[in-house]
Amino acid sequence: MNEPLRGLEIAPPEERAVLLGKEAYISESYAREEGAKLWSKVWQVACRAEEVPNVGDYVTYDILDESIIVVRNAPDRIEAFHNVCQHRARRLTTGCGHARQFVCPFHGWRWNLQGRNTFVLCREDYGDTLKDEDIALPPVRCEQWGGWVWINLDPDCVPLREYLWPAAPMLDSFDLDRMRYRWRQWLIFPCNWKVALEAFNESFHARISHPGLSEFGSVADYWCRGQGLHCWHGPEQSIGAGTMSKSDKPAPIMPGSHIEPRKRLGLTMRRFMDEVNALTTQTIVDAAQRLVDELPEGTPAGEVGAHLMQRAREDDEARGVHWADVPPEVMLNAGHDWHLFPNTIFLQTRTHALCYRARPNGWNPDSCIFEAYVIELFPEGEAPETEWQFVPDWTDERWPKVLREDFQNMPEVQRGLKSSGFSVARPNPRQEATVSHFHQVLADYMGRDAPVPITP
Ligand code: FES
Ligand SMILES: [Fe+2]
Repeated sequence: MNEPLRGLEIAPPEERAVLLGKEAYISESYAREEGAKLWSKVWQVACRAEEVPNVGDYVTYDILDESIIVVRNAPDRIEAFHNVCQHRARRLTTGCGHARQFVCPFHGWRWNLQGRNTFVLCREDYGDTLKDEDIALPPVRCEQWGGWVWINLDPDCVPLREYLWPAAPMLDSFDLDRMRYRWRQWLIFPCNWKVALEAFNESFHARISHPGLSEFGSVADYWCRGQGLHCWHGPEQSIGAGTMSKSDKPAPIMPGSHIEPRKRLGLTMRRFMDEVNALTTQTIVDAAQRLVDELPEGTPAGEVGAHLMQRAREDDEARGVHWADVPPEVMLNAGHDWHLFPNTIFLQTRTHALCYRARPNGWNPDSCIFEAYVIELFPEGEAPETEWQFVPDWTDERWPKVLREDFQNMPEVQRGLKSSGFSVARPNPRQEATVSHFHQVLADYMGRDAPVPITP
């Protein structure tokens, strides 16, 4: 094992057959319990650091009954506070913005960016009874990794990096912190937050739900790993574009597999851009169209993929985009899709990542807030200006076609979970072991029995 993974024993691919009950997805009391046992204990992504670039920039992050202000209060420091007035509980602010201080709109109490109270209306009326330390904004644990700002409502929680093990050491070299938003959209979705996430923490569905992606033969079987709280998966076969594979097992035969590799990769990259608006970049799409000119007919798929990545990397280098240097050992083991417990998923590469976050929308187990976004490396100072776009209708064509295909499944799963004709889910023991691992960890937090193994 080489340097970056020294001391990190990576778990072998998981194989386990379990049954998953439905309570976690549809029970109102379970959703309530999640507030106390899960959301108040876990590290969760509040925003990207790029959303608060200047001192005074802030974002509010809401989870169930809690609202948290994440604010940059020094050039090199981001802190978080409960977003609630210490006078009579009015929420101080909403959304995001820039502030020199936080002023309560009710009776005008004020706090500086460090959370210290600076003004109480008619303070003299309180005599000596009002102590500064009692009326400071209560702090919330806040740390950064991967360009994200994370918060944890539990003051006694473990440090973020410890919580993120083994994801942080395995993924540090992907330089996710250098990436900036390319696009970001959100909506309220009529399904449980876990149903939404589980549409994205396995790739097993892709060959059926996303026929357009597999049309050119870019389909694989997948291995899944779970370690610590988190899980990840990757293709067993190289699917082109330089993806490293864990085995030489031949890929399943799909329509389009007969197309010769140079053309196939060109078509695949263009399809990714057109139908996902992710999983590739314009640099890679453009370089992929040149493969037929740059390589002789019959070049094996692996060589075509390596050539494409080499050329795209050179093209990006020339415009000032420096790809992450990911050691081959990491590339081999990091797969392509991570689920950081409980509610962050991303598909990472050396130049970009497609990311998702899902969280409950209040206490209703049938509703969630779902966000999808792409981050990418841009030349210094050239990242596009983006904002969160609320696109409420999931059939709206502003949602990429492939996401709309995923969205079709989500409310139908939520309905099906309530059917008297459905009692337990049976995730594929190998290719959906990420789903099982997630429920194992969730059960631990929730004080429930682990998922039931299926015995022959
Ligand atoms: S509730 Fe905020 S100043 Fe009164
Ligand atoms: Fe999908």
